Amino acid sequence: MSSGRIPRPAAVAVAVSGMLAVATDCGSAGTPPPEPRPLVSDAVPPGFPSGTPATLAPADNALTEARAQLGRRLFFDAQLSRTGDVACATCHLADRAFSDPNRVSTGVEQRTGTRNAPALVNLAWGVSFFWDGRVATLEEQAGKPIEHPAEMDLPLADAVTRIAADVRYRAAFDDAYGGPPREETLRKAIASFVRVLVSADSAYDRHLRGDDSAFGGPEQRGETVFLSEKAGCFHCHPGGMLTNEGFFNNGLYVDGGDTGRQMVTGRTGDLGKFKVPGLRNVAASAPYMHDGSLATLEDVLDHYERGGSGHVATDPAIAPLALTSDERDDLLAFLRALTDNAFLTDPRWTPPQP
Ligand code: HEC
Ligand code: HEC
Repeated sequence: MSSGRIPRPAAVAVAVSGMLAVATDCGSAGTPPPEPRPLVSDAVPPGFPSGTPATLAPADNALTEARAQLGRRLFFDAQLSRTGDVACATCHLADRAFSDPNRVSTGVEQRTGTRNAPALVNLAWGVSFFWDGRVATLEEQAGKPIEHPAEMDLPLADAVTRIAADVRYRAAFDDAYGGPPREETLRKAIASFVRVLVSADSAYDRHLRGDDSAFGGPEQRGETVFLSEKAGCFHCHPGGMLTNEGFFNNGLYVDGGDTGRQMVTGRTGDLGKFKVPGLRNVAASAPYMHDGSLATLEDVLDHYERGGSGHVATDPAIAPLALTSDERDDLLAFLRALTDNAFLTDPRWTPPQP
């Protein structure tokens, strides 16, 4: 058991240095730090696909600042694990776009899972969650890792008892949901925080808004390759959100292993299918795929250029590619232009001050 695994100290350091930088810019050391930006914004980020709904939350969990701030506190709180040393943020690191740099994550008592912790980016617009899409709402999702024996291993009822023992939490729940902590409102608050993890300021996003200052020749040619039949990426990762939210078998392994979506639906046709991830900040969220088996973006391109590894149920859209080395370089430049540094270093992705 090592409490040092909780990335809290590093996260706080980022927040503090961010504030110092602002104070220096203002040139007056005595000025109090500026009001932190609120977590909640009503607007759909400019440049997102037209028709993207602004209503991000279900009717029974409308998104409010109090709810998101409460969820933020919970996301970083290791009390939600049986052993008191694993928080959501242990496996979902902000500077990795809330993914885990390890191939699989380590939960309580060094227990390991079998899947890679995905980036948590723009999930407000997601339609199903987990690599196999087994839950339909972020509210339902939020309870799963708390109870999962290899993750936080704490019955939700016990989590509520712990939280309710803290007077600040009681006040925050009352403020956010008009009552004491309950299992349902615990899950709702956490979902509210996950919903505000919006990334919309990569060079690609600015390009979508008509500003190409950081989206030059290689990135533009890379986007063209990405959207071409020659590479075929757009079939599953269409422009805009860079996911069609569907389940596909991209031929990752030959046979055996994780059956993916089939475990959820029981259908033969779903063998080895996984949810198509959106790709914003993908350069920060290595390793890749549901099993974390591809270490770098170069490995991902090798995989697609080979046409996968030959899984019997590989999707017909996955076939050997004949990219020139220039096209490959441009495609990489495009994938790297999906990095939103403001998101990766956002001082709001830290525990709120008490
Ligand atoms: C021990 C590591 C670990 C902890 C702790 C953990 N997660 Fe995860 N998380 C994962 C893994 C691994 C997956 C993928 C599991 C799967 O798909 O079956 C995942 C998936 C998710 C997803 C689905 C993302 C998507 O694109 O579908 C969300 C949302 C999420 N976690 C949020 C949370 C929240 C909120 C907490 C805290 C309550 C949390 N996680 C705690 C490892 C962890
Ligand atoms: C037939 C659908 C399909 C096509 C075509 C496709 N992908 Fe994917 N992509 C997926 C699926 C499904 C996953 C997740 C697979 C898994 O986890 O096992 C994925 C995962 C990825 C990942 C890893 C993301 C992460 O967070 O782990 C990257 C990067 C990626 N694709 C890029 C591309 C590029 C570049 C192309 C074009 C050369 C492409 N994809 C073509 C379906 C597709």
